[in-house]
Amino acid sequence: MTFTNVLISIKEGLAIVTINRPKKLNALNQETIKELHEAFEGLQDNADVKVIILTGSGEKAFVAGADISEFADFSEEEGRLLAANGQKLLFDYIENLTTPVIAAINGFALGGGLELAMACHFRVASHNARMGLPEVSLGLIPGYGGTQRLPRLIGKGRAMELIMTASMIDVDRALGYGLVNHVVSQEELLGFCEKLAGKISNNSSVAIGYAIKAINKGFTPSNGFATEVEAFGACFGTQDFKEGTSAFLEKRKADFPGK
Ligand code: COA
Repeated sequence: MTFTNVLISIKEGLAIVTINRPKKLNALNQETIKELHEAFEGLQDNADVKVIILTGSGEKAFVAGADISEFADFSEEEGRLLAANGQKLLFDYIENLTTPVIAAINGFALGGGLELAMACHFRVASHNARMGLPEVSLGLIPGYGGTQRLPRLIGKGRAMELIMTASMIDVDRALGYGLVNHVVSQEELLGFCEKLAGKISNNSSVAIGYAIKAINKGFTPSNGFATEVEAFGACFGTQDFKEGTSAFLEKRKADFPGK
């Protein structure tokens, strides 16, 4: 499998998937989402692969979010489709894989980047990582499952605060919240995840697959994800969204017209 924005290496039952757009801080454009889907599909079908590690290339970012330049002029319907397709192709897809996926968060995990890390089965971060869902600073809401997975992982009140303030948290806070399971240095990050993967692969892949299904079933949402898709789409019809995304692309502070 060869891709433009995704690198894959496979060694002794362990696959490392690296999102490779370092100049854009690995922002998720549509092509990357499609490639990641194909990469994960191939690895799930590969009987030799027992564990997958997902990381970002470069020293700065895991993923700095969905690619804002791609959707700045989207309509409400296009916004809805962006969220719905992305959730199906990548975020729900990873969560429901029966091959374990560990997110190795090597830097910024913002917006769609944190949503991607949260769709993985668990997370390990390096000291320099920063996490947040800054969408409301763009006149948007998280659209790749963030309104659902963040409160499940860290609790409703903390998720409300993090989403409303659009702020980033450091790894100490993320560890205290249970958003990440371990924090290590950047140099140790992949080695640490590989050791965890080694422990996992000593166990029954079949049983682990069933455990993932059972754990996920306990968190089966009502219609929260569908509500997120509708609300995400509605944002695209607002002046706030136009102002928020223009401000980011023009590298200035947004001045929201408000309610
Ligand atoms: N979408 C598109 N491009 C992005 C991006 C995103 N989510 N995040 C970063 N980039 C691009 C920048 O536009 C810049 O491109 P350029 O060099 O062609 O101008 C490049 O990646 C480097 O980012 P830059 O902002 O210069 O780095 P920084 O160190 O000053 O700031 C961040 C880092 C992560 C704080 C900043 O990039 C940021 O706020 N990104 C957006 C985060 C966000 O809102 N994500 C949610 C999207 S829904």
